Amino acid sequence: MSDFQSTIKETAGLIETALDEFLPSREGPLGRVADAMRWGALDGGKRLRPFLVIAAADMFDCPRARSIRVGCAVEMIHCYSLIHDDLPAMDDSDLRRGRPSVHKKFDDATAILAGDALLTQAFEVLAEEATHPSGAVRCRLALELARAAGKDGMVGGQMIDIYAEQKDFDLAGIEELQRLKTGALIRFGAVGGGVVGEGTDDEIAALTAYAEDLGLAFQIVDDILDATQDAETLGKPAGQDAEMDKATFIKLLGMDGAKSKAADLVDSCKAHLDRFGVRAAPLKGAADFVFQRKS
Ligand code: IPE
Ligand code: IPE
Ligand code: MG
Ligand code: MG
Ligand code: MG
Repeated sequence: MSDFQSTIKETAGLIETALDEFLPSREGPLGRVADAMRWGALDGGKRLRPFLVIAAADMFDCPRARSIRVGCAVEMIHCYSLIHDDLPAMDDSDLRRGRPSVHKKFDDATAILAGDALLTQAFEVLAEEATHPSGAVRCRLALELARAAGKDGMVGGQMIDIYAEQKDFDLAGIEELQRLKTGALIRFGAVGGGVVGEGTDDEIAALTAYAEDLGLAFQIVDDILDATQDAETLGKPAGQDAEMDKATFIKLLGMDGAKSKAADLVDSCKAHLDRFGVRAAPLKGAADFVFQRKS
């Protein structure tokens, strides 16, 4: 295992433990939604967004107890987005992270509610004092996450993604779609780490520039993997983008064009971190990981 793989595995373990505590099982009528939240959020995924939070916050010597909470918040939003993305009304995917998606394991109504509850809980976690003693820092985190998740972020991107099935998109249109749908939460990862670590405005701007290129590269690779890997490797259905005629870079640039665009973005994202010197090694490692991943 490479150094980077063991680092991301270690932080994924910290996130798993914290999410398990945030999402306890319940008895009685609430038990079903609690179980569905656990099914959708625990025991799976690369935990890339929380990794970015923790790695960025570490550069500013932020206590892990704080950055782990911010990482859990963005992972809750991400898991909610996946639960809703898989619903029959959206991508109609039965498989997620190698097991039945939440609406298959439970039912559509429970999946909607479990997603809603994860979304809400993310802001509860950020607002609690344990996230940061300064109310201003907690408020900024909530603001950044709300913007990343909402109509000018992930939700907006998901709307364009659905609409794009019936429309022809040019390169700029696809970039905008990917920037919102996937880029916004990845951007929050790095920026949220800078905010909870109390980086300067210039440092947070450098993290933003890194994360913008990384987010785009991430979704291009997601689209490449959808077209080239099988469901067993991915842990989710393969070949769905072509089937649903989704707007992807592959559709416009071809496979080789999409690969070289992702490679260029990975190089440019790392260059934005040069000011941080060796402290940026984990974030640079994340960029290589995004490009080389197979699932
Ligand atoms: C999948 O995200 C959805 C996209 C935004 C492309 P990830 O590939 O990060 O999914 P997990 O969390 O590792 O399962
Ligand atoms: C969804 O993109 C991104 C989200 C906001 C959930 P995809 O539909 O491509 O994600 P996968 O391939 O199902 O993970
Ligand atoms: Mg989708
Ligand atoms: Mg999908
Ligand atoms: Mg996809």
